[in-house]
Amino acid sequence: MLNSLFYNRLYEWYEIHHRVLPWRETQDAYCIWLSEIILQQTRVAQGMDYYLRFVNRWSTVESLASADEAEVLREWQGLGYYSRARNLHKAAQTVVEKGWTPFPTRFEDIRSLPGIGDYTAGAIASFAYNQPYPAMDGNVYRVVARLLDIDEAFDTTAGKKLFHQQIDSLLDKEHARLFNSAIMEFGALYCTPALGDNCATCPLQEFCLGYAHHTAELLPVRKPRPKVRDRWLDYHVYICTKDNGQGTTDEMTTLIRRRENPKDIWYHLYEFPCEEHQSAITNDPSPISFTHTLSHQKLHARFFVHQVSELPETEGTIVIRWEELDDYALSRLTLRALDTLRGPQRH
Ligand code: ADE
Repeated sequence: MLNSLFYNRLYEWYEIHHRVLPWRETQDAYCIWLSEIILQQTRVAQGMDYYLRFVNRWSTVESLASADEAEVLREWQGLGYYSRARNLHKAAQTVVEKGWTPFPTRFEDIRSLPGIGDYTAGAIASFAYNQPYPAMDGNVYRVVARLLDIDEAFDTTAGKKLFHQQIDSLLDKEHARLFNSAIMEFGALYCTPALGDNCATCPLQEFCLGYAHHTAELLPVRKPRPKVRDRWLDYHVYICTKDNGQGTTDEMTTLIRRRENPKDIWYHLYEFPCEEHQSAITNDPSPISFTHTLSHQKLHARFFVHQVSELPETEGTIVIRWEELDDYALSRLTLRALDTLRGPQRH
């Protein structure tokens, strides 16, 4: 523990400046878990609607466990990192199978669930139950690196260990809920990557070694990023319009398929039939082409529309009516293409 003035300053800042967020208004571990999984790689502004829709549709762990995986993926559509949704569903089923409803209370049980690492387990245990575990998210790493002037990379095994030792001695164990919320919010809103003039009026200034040593803005240090891989994807959008013989609206059908490689992106999401090339092909232009960036891959996508009288069905493809596309979990890249294909009028 630091001097109690440090905690008073931090808590006073939090009282005044914290955002009022629905998952902070509850101590229901299930809701807190949902919010933490949604917010793992997602900003609060984007995650809010998803959180509200999930708790509305599946208000208990039992109801989520008995949903179909496809429905959960469909509700997750657009958030990205779909393994989060698959793990969410699996974890709900584990909680029910083990008889841990409404939600496990022991840290080790929480931590054992799919998709839950040290951060999320600590967040749930402290926010829901006020148990004395740290919750080190990216914001907290930044605040701790600056406060203690730590220039070791925080995203390596050795670095994580060091930071965890430090946060253990910093954590206010009697008030873990308040401490974790406050330090996380302080990192999110005040001790931000670009500090501007914030240090000059920072309530924690006199406790901050990074401030004293003029290193705050250089911290935290990360390990070098893996190189981003380029991929070239050609999608084929087949549109089959059968004459219904009445001279009125024809039924439009198309082909989609489910991605089946668990090691590749978008496992179990649906998309139009796709051909992957090992390099760019330039002699075959498509009117719909864009690049789509994921954390480790830069996708160069092109969409070719084919009006056909017979759909070229092959193994793994599914014939659906065009309107039914909305019933399937699609990748963000496919949704982007659909925006263009469908024009501005609808989604
Ligand atoms: N990001 C991750 N968890 C959060 C939380 N509980 N409040 C605000 N942002 C968050």
